[in-house]
Amino acid sequence: MLASLERYSDSVFRTLCYRHGAELTFTEMAHVNSFLNNNKGSLQKIEPKDSTPVQIQILSSNEAKLDRFLTRFRPFKGFRGFNLNLSCPSKDVIRQGKGAAMVKRATKTSKLVKLIRGHGYTVSVKIRLGLNQHEKNNKLYLNNLGGVDPDFFVVHAKHAGQASSEPEDDSVYPECVEAARGIPVIANGGIETPEKVQSLMEMGVSGVMMGRPAMGNPAIFDLLKNEMGFNDPPRQVPRAADLGQEYKDLFDSIGGDEKYKFRFLKIVGRRRAIY
Ligand SMILES: Cc1cc2nc3c(=O)[nH]c(=O)nc-3n(C[C@H](O)[C@H](O)[C@H](O)COP(=O)(O)O)c2cc1C
Repeated sequence: MLASLERYSDSVFRTLCYRHGAELTFTEMAHVNSFLNNNKGSLQKIEPKDSTPVQIQILSSNEAKLDRFLTRFRPFKGFRGFNLNLSCPSKDVIRQGKGAAMVKRATKTSKLVKLIRGHGYTVSVKIRLGLNQHEKNNKLYLNNLGGVDPDFFVVHAKHAGQASSEPEDDSVYPECVEAARGIPVIANGGIETPEKVQSLMEMGVSGVMMGRPAMGNPAIFDLLKNEMGFNDPPRQVPRAADLGQEYKDLFDSIGGDEKYKFRFLKIVGRRRAIY
């Protein structure tokens, strides 16, 4: 899966990654409030351009507002449900009780998930290992995995106080998988080699999600799937350096935002994108 990437994962980038092996993509995060306020930038994030499979990532902690948004929402081709963001580490978002501040609020999360389900939509939940080391030590994230019933979880194996350069703690996955009671767990964070995917699968995860590695090489999905024998027959993988032209062609055909194009072209071909 291609991760949500604010300022990068627009429709053009998502489609490029889908063409090269990502099976599901995610929009960048948006507050439900911003949809209700008809914020142009947020509405653009969920504007359908083609049929690439996508979940819309939302930040929410309020059932009434979420219900109002869902009542108005009209699904489109490629729409595969919603992803609740319980992972954003931004201080502003946390102050509002959203993002990673929601990890410890399993009852609230469960209500939001049920509400989305009640509207007939698939829903996934992306969590971190809590707000800080203290929450991580107390394993509050396990309450969420054990008490909420989405279609799948994504676990970014870090707490919100950790820098993007710090390593993930993959040792948490076996316990996460057990707590999730058969609901699939997708691993996220620092995954870019077949060996890493293999070791995560041995811990019981059902799939992986990649963000920064895909910014540097949108064909990393097929690259890993070929190496692991998941593509039968193996698919042709272009060089990362050639994907700039493919992006430009896609941009011309489905339309995009020049700022996103500029950022993508600056980063593609670099081994590991730095945030
Ligand atoms: C530029 C950038 C923007 C991001 N924006 C979001 C976002 O909108 N929503 C979200 O859940 N995570 C966001 N993240 C986190 C990624 O989805 C992902 O969890 C994180 O980068 C770890 O995965 P990786 O090591 O494969 O990049 C962002 C990360 C980066 C680098």
